[in-house]
Parts: sequence; C-alpha cells; structure tokens
Amino acid sequence: MAKIIAVVGATGTQGGGLARAILADPSGGFAVRAITRDPNKDNAKALASKGAEVVSANLDDVESLKKAFAGAHGVYAVTNFWEHFSGEKEKAQAKNIADAAKAAGVKHVIWSTLEDTRKLMDPGDKRMPFLQEKYRVPHFDAKAEADAYFSGLPVTYLVTSFYWDNLYMFGLAPKKDESGVYSWTFPMGNSKLAGIAAEDIGKVAYGIFKAGQEYVGKTVGITGENLTINEMGEKLSKGLGIGSVKYNVVEADTYRGFGFPGADEMGNMFQVYRDFEKEVLAARSADVARKLNPQLQTFDQWLAKNRSKISTEAPVA
Ligand SMILES: NC(=O)c1ccc[n+]([C@@H]2O[C@H](COP(=O)([O-])OP(=O)(O)OC[C@H]3O[C@@H](n4cnc5c(N)ncnc54)[C@H](OP(=O)(O)O)[C@@H]3O)[C@@H](O)[C@H]2O)c1
Repeated sequence: MAKIIAVVGATGTQGGGLARAILADPSGGFAVRAITRDPNKDNAKALASKGAEVVSANLDDVESLKKAFAGAHGVYAVTNFWEHFSGEKEKAQAKNIADAAKAAGVKHVIWSTLEDTRKLMDPGDKRMPFLQEKYRVPHFDAKAEADAYFSGLPVTYLVTSFYWDNLYMFGLAPKKDESGVYSWTFPMGNSKLAGIAAEDIGKVAYGIFKAGQEYVGKTVGITGENLTINEMGEKLSKGLGIGSVKYNVVEADTYRGFGFPGADEMGNMFQVYRDFEKEVLAARSADVARKLNPQLQTFDQWLAKNRSKISTEAPVA
C-alpha cells in the first residue's frame, strides 16, 4: 500500500511542489493527503483531480491536525509567516504540527525551517534592529526556535532558500521607468543570494521522503544557485530580452524605511544575506539539492520556464 504523506501547505508553493512531485510519480510508493483550510478552493480541487486525498485542517487547531495526520507515514510541515507576520504565531502553529505528528505516530516529518540569525551577531550588535522584541529576522528565527518542537520525532530539518519566484509572486523583478531604464533596489552589496526555483523545494522534499531513514535526524540545507544581484540582473536582461538592469545598491537602513509591509523584516533578511554571506551559503548546498532532486534548476533554466510570469512594468501609483 502507498505510504501517505500528509502535506501541510499543499495548496501553496512548497507543499504544492511536493504534492505535484508525488502525484507525478504514481509508481513511487507514496500518496498525497493534501491539507487545506478550504477543500473547495481551486488549488485543492486541482490536487484532488490528480488523485490527491484532500482533507480539511487548520494549523491553529491541533485536534484537526491530529485527525488529518492519522494513518499517515509522513508529514511535510510548513508554516506561513507572511499570512500574519508574527513569529509567536508561527511557533505556535509549528508546535501544533509537531504535537499532532507525535500523536499520530508518523514515521518521518520534514520541517521546513531556516536558521537562527541571532546566532550570527552578538545581542549588543547594533547593525540591525530587533523586531517583535526578540528577533533579528522573525521568519527565520521563529522557525529555528520551532526546531526544538520537532526533536523527539523522526525529523529532517529542511533549510530552504529565497524563491526566485518572488520576482513575479511579490513583484520583486526589475522595473522600467519613464525613460526606459530597468532597475531594482536591494541592500545586498555584492554578496550572493542563495536562490531556488520554488517548485524544486517540494521535489527535494520528495527525494528526502524516498530516501527515508538516511535523512532522519539530519539538517539538509538547499539552494539552486548562488548569485549576486548584478549576476541575476544580467541573466534577466538576456532571458527577458530587456535592456541592461541597473542595480541600485542601498543601505539596509534605507530599505527598512521603504514602508511597505514587511520592509523592516526584508531589510534585516537581506542584510543577513549580505553581511553573513559565507555562513548563509555554507548552510546550503546545490549538490545536495541536486542529489535529492536531479531536475534541480539553475536560475537560467527557471527563467526560461517562468519568463512570461515576470512583469517589469512599474505598478500604477
Ligand atoms: N518566499 C520565499 O522566498 C521563502 C523562502 C524560504 C522560506 N519561505 C517560507 O515559506 C513559508 C510559506 O510557504 P509557501 O511559500 O509555500 O506559502 P504559500 O504559497 O503562501 O501557501 C501557504 C500555505 O499554507 C497553508 N496555510 C496557511 N495557514 C494555514 C492554517 N492556519 N491552517 C492550514 N493551512 C494553512 C495554506 O493553505 P490553505 O490556504 O489552503 O488553508 C497554503 O497552502 C513562509 O513561512 C516563508 O517564511 C519563503
């Protein structure tokens, strides 16, 4: 009988990638149980039409998760910081997933986590503010704190990277101004950003479930390719067939002050990528990711597939 993987976030990016990877391999020995708050939404129906079991559960309700995980072999655990912007809520939801996975006695959990950026700086380091009182980068640090909830479970800690898909999902692509110049703005200096095609995260996760015991108790850090902002700009210029892309290098303080929701958080995150390039890149490996997912894409390969989704038009003010 196929081993059931209960996929949290199956209607979203990471979990969706895993669900699609399992469904694309019907003889692989695994089946998808897609977890959503709303089985009637289009993404859930699309998964059901491809053969996934769709069940309703809410990360804020541990009892609903216990039911959703019952009888499953594995659980893919991901929380969505960007829905509420709260480190404390993210931890509470992660704890509910871990508690429910323990109660269900699952054999393998993959927890999609990130590193604790506070360990990279002394508490008195003034280069970036603390946010939500105690975090440097809340969506990293809260996930790292939540790692402890999963100890005692047969868990693999999956350390992910910046999705290149943010270029269209969050409008981060270079934009054309009135004079036809393409530009974008980051506080990244010349440091490399560890990036990945979002779809590849789920494919790596599938590789981890398939490998089974080999990755239980391990931390697996993944990247698709590490590129500077200028390198990405050059590739976008060629791949999109647009003029050269001007990189406006700003200070992290300037970026934090841009005022869009999460600007302070993103400013701190990019500053960590810039100031601690060596540590961040050392925690992630494209070789490991490719071993688990031989289809792992480079930036150019991802761009060739996704170029039609990327808009370089500035939003109308
Ligand atoms: N963007 C990046 O570059 C990046 C890089 C590394 C890590 N991350 C992390 O990725 C996480 C988000 O994952 P994603 O990009 O896959 O998210 P996403 O595409 O926005 O989808 C969110 C998923 O979470 C589910 N969900 C959210 N709240 C839920 C709740 N209360 N109960 C049940 N399900 C819930 C949603 O399911 P329903 O709505 O169907 O219920 C949906 O499937 C964030 O925490 C972020 O920090 C992002």
